[in-house]
Amino acid sequence: MTRMDGKALAEKMQGQLAEKTAVLKEKTGVEPGLVVILVGDNPASQVYVRNKERSALAAGFRSEVIRLPETTTQEELLAVIERYNQDMAWHGILVQLPLPVHIDEEAILLAIDPDKDVDGFHPMNMGKFWSGHPVMIPSTPAGIMELLREYDINPEGKKAVVIGRSNIVGKPMAQLLLDANATVTIAHSRTENLPALAREADILVVAIGRGHFVTKEFVKEGAVVIDVGMNRDENGKLIGDVAFDEVNEIASHITPVPGGVGPMTITMLMEQTYHACKRFLGTQANQP
Ligand code: GUN
Repeated sequence: MTRMDGKALAEKMQGQLAEKTAVLKEKTGVEPGLVVILVGDNPASQVYVRNKERSALAAGFRSEVIRLPETTTQEELLAVIERYNQDMAWHGILVQLPLPVHIDEEAILLAIDPDKDVDGFHPMNMGKFWSGHPVMIPSTPAGIMELLREYDINPEGKKAVVIGRSNIVGKPMAQLLLDANATVTIAHSRTENLPALAREADILVVAIGRGHFVTKEFVKEGAVVIDVGMNRDENGKLIGDVAFDEVNEIASHITPVPGGVGPMTITMLMEQTYHACKRFLGTQANQP
């Protein structure tokens, strides 16, 4: 069994990104800018946002975190987004999800300038992505594809099963695997005979959000198992969707939690921000 070390790959890529950023800054005087907007005090979101800020600063980006109270109205949030849409010093805008229930998530995602939508959640970016012309790719599935590449796992011709159908992970993951010529099935909590279906997978991606949901009986001998889960057990310990200790006995490759997919997600977000900045500079250069 090979443990797929997302932390190590993320550190390597972060180092390369910091070098690219330094060169860009020297050549153009511009540094990529990422603003992260957090509404309310969801504890998990606070941790994610802190990690994103740390990572942006380590890459040499301009970084700002806007922390707004739970009582922020939709109009107030839209006004903040509009301010950063207009400000050319910022190339990436990310609104941390989930939002408080009184705010319409779709309206917020729609308000972010698609050129700055480094999450890739704006319907325009989703449409481009699904039609085979990606500009912004959701970070978690993008990070998983990098991990597969790093460990020389080519999805071409393979059977892939994705458990989970969220817009953030499951659906875009299926699309990327399809682009890489895998045969893809999207399964979810209502799928019948899920263990038997999952056992057909050469590549099994689990993003269902239930601690240790996937046990040995879901996994074919020699399968590659990718765990996107971030759950807390009864002692508050971070655990994945996969029961690592038993599945690692039969998988050929497996990602741990923590230290697998999570660090890659953040790194890919920084990559997207860097590329958004480069595209911005390209459009500037074409101005008369
Ligand atoms: N909440 C959980 N994952 C994500 C993500 O990738 N982006 C945003 N904006 N919010 C999230």
